[in-house]
Amino acid sequence: MEAGETFEQAAIRELREEMGLVVQDPGSQVRQRVFPLTLPNGEVVEADERFFIVRVKDCVVRDDMRTAMEKRVIAEHRWWTLAELQSTQETVWPKDVAEMLQNVLGVASDAPRHDGGAFSGTGPGVQARDGCSVELYRRARYAGEIEHLRPLLPAGTRVLELGCGTGLLTHRLLDFGCEVTGVDNSPEMLAHVSSQVRRVCADIESLELADRYDLVLLPSGLINHADGEVRRAFLAAARRHLSSHGQLILKCQDANWLRMAEAGWRATSGPLSMELLRVERRKTNGQLEVRMTLQYTIESDMWTHSFSVVPLEERAIQSLLAAEGFNRQVAIEGPPGWFVAEATDCVVN
Ligand SMILES: C[S@@+](CC[C@H](N)C(=O)[O-])C[C@H]1O[C@@H](n2cnc3c(N)ncnc32)[C@H](O)[C@@H]1O
Repeated sequence: MEAGETFEQAAIRELREEMGLVVQDPGSQVRQRVFPLTLPNGEVVEADERFFIVRVKDCVVRDDMRTAMEKRVIAEHRWWTLAELQSTQETVWPKDVAEMLQNVLGVASDAPRHDGGAFSGTGPGVQARDGCSVELYRRARYAGEIEHLRPLLPAGTRVLELGCGTGLLTHRLLDFGCEVTGVDNSPEMLAHVSSQVRRVCADIESLELADRYDLVLLPSGLINHADGEVRRAFLAAARRHLSSHGQLILKCQDANWLRMAEAGWRATSGPLSMELLRVERRKTNGQLEVRMTLQYTIESDMWTHSFSVVPLEERAIQSLLAAEGFNRQVAIEGPPGWFVAEATDCVVN
């Protein structure tokens, strides 16, 4: 790096000098490595390496802007595929560049794992245990997801939101005049939730709060979790936190989309672009399980999220709810996938 340069500026300059490639912005760094490095003169320094991903089309490498030293040490160049990097016998620096690239692209079988390998995520910032990126949710915008629930959420409703993330929906519940408790097992997510919310850092499955609520919200397709025990535990947690007249509202992922979507599917929502990078479907004990890797982009930043889910038709949701002590389950009018259910011992008018 040159004096006064940021890592991003140095990356832009080096790309121009060493490859003749002109980029305006290398995006956010995707990895950092800090380690002791012995220089040719024997001095040991702390090396601080930052990595960026720059995508190019038809890039012809030019060497006429290289410094004299670069001309001396760069003998030749070539483009490598990820598979070639993984299998080469050549010495490659950094040694784990293939693994790093796999992880960043989120397409690897050994991408960083959370929650038993079913969930992982990559990209700037930290990831929650379910692979969701905190920074992605912090920068995403509320897109009207719960406007249609407003009649069920009059001011003063005591709401327990399970898996509240950075508070995209939570903050809207505050606008509705609700009294909100938000639960998430990611302290980094919760750090972005308003202090007007009672914030609880805990696993939903084992949640044991003293309070009871008018309404429990289980959003974001959490009910589609690939593990049946977890699905049941989510509903049981909702059930034991409801007051006697309480209702559960849950959002289920679009079963048809989970069954049919193919890699290459794209959508946008405000500043957020989504692309389905990879999808695998397999049957386990007769139940279709869908493992997906979605890529999210906001401006020049990119994240991936890999997760396993099961498609649930309305009948499957009904029987799950019934088994956990809910009845009168109905689909809510408005966007598909939202259901409301009542606790079985509540007084029905
Ligand atoms: C897809 S994000 C959605 C966040 C928020 N509901 C929204 O719509 O922006 C799912 C959130 O649920 C949290 N989560 C997932 N599984 C959880 C569990 N078992 N216990 C607690 N939180 C969980 C994650 O940490 C993440 O913040």
